[in-house]
Amino acid sequence: VISLSLSGKTGDSRILVGESLENLGRYARDGRQAVIVTDDRVRGLYSGAFPGWPVAAIPEGERFKTLRTVSGIYERFLGLEVDRSWLVVGIGGGVVCDIAGYAASTYLRGLEFGFAATTLLAQVDAAVGGKNGVNLRGYKNLVGTFSQPSFVLCDFGVLRTLPAKEIRCGLAEIIKSAAIADEGLFEFLEENITSCLDLERSTIGHAVERSCRVKIDIVGRDEREAGERRKLNFGHTLGHALEKIRRISHGEAVAVGMAAAARLSVRKGLLGREDESRLITLIRRAGLPTETNVSRLSLRAALVRDKKRQGDRIRFVLLEKPGRAVIQEVTFEEAMEAADGLR
Ligand SMILES: NC(=O)c1ccc[n+]([C@@H]2O[C@H](COP(=O)([O-])OP(=O)(O)OC[C@H]3O[C@@H](n4cnc5c(N)ncnc54)[C@H](O)[C@@H]3O)[C@@H](O)[C@H]2O)c1
Repeated sequence: VISLSLSGKTGDSRILVGESLENLGRYARDGRQAVIVTDDRVRGLYSGAFPGWPVAAIPEGERFKTLRTVSGIYERFLGLEVDRSWLVVGIGGGVVCDIAGYAASTYLRGLEFGFAATTLLAQVDAAVGGKNGVNLRGYKNLVGTFSQPSFVLCDFGVLRTLPAKEIRCGLAEIIKSAAIADEGLFEFLEENITSCLDLERSTIGHAVERSCRVKIDIVGRDEREAGERRKLNFGHTLGHALEKIRRISHGEAVAVGMAAAARLSVRKGLLGREDESRLITLIRRAGLPTETNVSRLSLRAALVRDKKRQGDRIRFVLLEKPGRAVIQEVTFEEAMEAADGLR
């Protein structure tokens, strides 16, 4: 097990890369009381490996990432007479971690919490970094807190039951981390993408560890996203716009967004063509798309609604080379052209 640590203003976090779900009970110090928050699917698959703590189960899926679900969890906590000494443990993907972290950091003004992240995306992204929250009226993560989990357990064994599509979505975020901040990881992925897709233990383990390190480093310097943490949005500006207008998964949208951002980086003279094709090739070999059909009109409408927009300019993460990103403001027209060129 590799233990990485993140120290933030909102708490310290230990990321336990390669730890088994079976050992989760060890992380409740001094035999304290704990309650598990999980979803129905994860409970169905893995409750045999859960410690004997009471469970607050929620329905699975993004559409249940709401205040109503959180309210149900509060009721369960109340029924269990949860007090400040309790630990809350989210076991599941990004949805469960976001909800469990939010419920824990608001109930009684904040309980200690930890996660066992069971999707690749949660292990490299959602569970790490201390952002928690829920959606409101179709706005993603509109309500939430910054508060660090005291631990994040990443067991690679549980990834075997994930649909292939979910593995690819997690890989999209790993490619993102490599592209913005870790050239060595980028090269590793170029050599080992197939065995990562097959979840070969040592390669996926290395990729998860390095990807977590990227996020920990950046969050350690900019916990509240005042500057550098925005680099983690590489591929996400166009990605989010695409998610609003197409039936496309988050990972696929980010993949298309990264390809578009690379194209724009070339146009602006920041990135060489050869490095652009390396990124495109890597994304494709991960089984992810680099283009999609969207109308200019709907894309423009979606970009207008972007939280990071300022007038007719939008903050964009661009690449200078694999492993080095810069943040620049670009005009709508430039962003649209980048998307255009992808078809
Ligand atoms: N807080 C952050 O910093 C942050 C960062 C990125 C994403 N997110 C959030 O993460 C969410 C997406 O997370 P996700 O992709 O993990 O989705 P998810 O949590 O919905 O999980 C996807 C599906 O996989 C199932 N599942 C979970 N573990 C499994 C396993 N081991 N085997 C089989 N099935 C399993 C779940 O029940 C669910 O149906 C979004 O809501 C997003 O906003 C948050």
